Amino acid sequence: MRESPESVLTRSRRAFDRTWAELEPVGRDGRTGGYNRFAWTRVDLELREWFVAEAERRGMGVEVDRNGNQWAWWGSPSDDAIVTGSHLDSVPGGGAFDGPLGVVSAFLALDTMIASGVRPSRPLAIVNFFEEEGSRFGLACLGSRLLTGAVAPEKALALADDDGVTLAEALAGAGIDPRGLGADVEATRRIGAFVELHVEQGRHLALGDAPVGVATSIWPHGRWHLRFDGEGNHAGTTAIADRRDPMLPFAGVVSAARAIAAQTDAVTTFGRIRVQPNGTNAIPTRVDAWLDARGATRDDVDRVIAATTAEAETLAAEHGVRLTIERESWTGVVDFDAGLRGRLLGALADAGMDSPVMHTAAGHDAGILAATVPTAMLFVRNPTGVSHSALEQATEADCVEGVAALAVVLQDLLTRPLASAAR
Ligand code: GLV
Ligand code: MN
Ligand code: MN
Repeated sequence: MRESPESVLTRSRRAFDRTWAELEPVGRDGRTGGYNRFAWTRVDLELREWFVAEAERRGMGVEVDRNGNQWAWWGSPSDDAIVTGSHLDSVPGGGAFDGPLGVVSAFLALDTMIASGVRPSRPLAIVNFFEEEGSRFGLACLGSRLLTGAVAPEKALALADDDGVTLAEALAGAGIDPRGLGADVEATRRIGAFVELHVEQGRHLALGDAPVGVATSIWPHGRWHLRFDGEGNHAGTTAIADRRDPMLPFAGVVSAARAIAAQTDAVTTFGRIRVQPNGTNAIPTRVDAWLDARGATRDDVDRVIAATTAEAETLAAEHGVRLTIERESWTGVVDFDAGLRGRLLGALADAGMDSPVMHTAAGHDAGILAATVPTAMLFVRNPTGVSHSALEQATEADCVEGVAALAVVLQDLLTRPLASAAR
């Protein structure tokens, strides 16, 4: 007897809740409810074990590639594989959905396909990219950048966390040989198409009726490190005229960056600073600050950065502070593969799931892979739009819709010829 739609929905909800509940406590700060899931820490290793267990539960083989990313295979690894997945790390105090929703949905979409007897013509891989957020080593999408050669292994290996632990040391500690790092042509050649499902980080879908959308593009974005060196001194006894306080040009540039961005199609954020020596009664010797800038076009970002850094230099000179500025990362505009997007939209429409298309200003591993392989993204509605925060949300009903949508597009890509639409 055919299962009723209500019973399918109940089963899907139960499956989602069960899988989600296993992951939910890992790396959660009981006080704030936010997540601290940083690459190659104990928490991350626990997440990686969870990934292996989910794969093994489904009889999938698990590989760790040369760069430390995890791959779970349904079918034998070979060319033209359909790859889905996301990341399990978080920003400091991040939400539950950014990253894990894509990995959990991938496993559950596979369950859906198995339950409906899908017979794939090519293998499926579910991937967990490491350090997508750049929360520990500063460079976002590190696992996918290494895989595709978007970052040189020497540069990556030398990146250090706030305690001075290098990526090379962290990898070695986790049993990954740092000498293996670098562009993995064999691994990328196997990818016929990559589809990443992600919680939306904005309110585009919240303003409409559809729970799932399809991405068109990602804004260009980058990170800049501003280092202000002043002179440490006593907070009480140093006359105003004698101070070379690095906090002051920093404070000025925070407001300036916002005012400058507000005049263009760009956004700027100072979300991370380090103050030395960080004492209440001491003028700091040094302030390190990181500027995140994103815009509709490269020109928008260039203009904002030029004006902001010029202002920082003026302010630093006024305060007798030495300033050095370094661009730490850059990701150009990403236009996702139009053929693959059309194919996703067609498969979703055939399944009665009309999906809006939308751009995003958030970075993703899919954005890095898009330079190398046909890539697409699905977004799941976020009722408040809040992300990179403990308050990030998605309803159970929308997450289940996301799984169903992912299963529809994966089934289409796994069972019909790939060449026609994806390349
Ligand atoms: C990652 O989520 C980013 O947009 O920085
Ligand atoms: Mn994120
Ligand atoms: Mn993410």
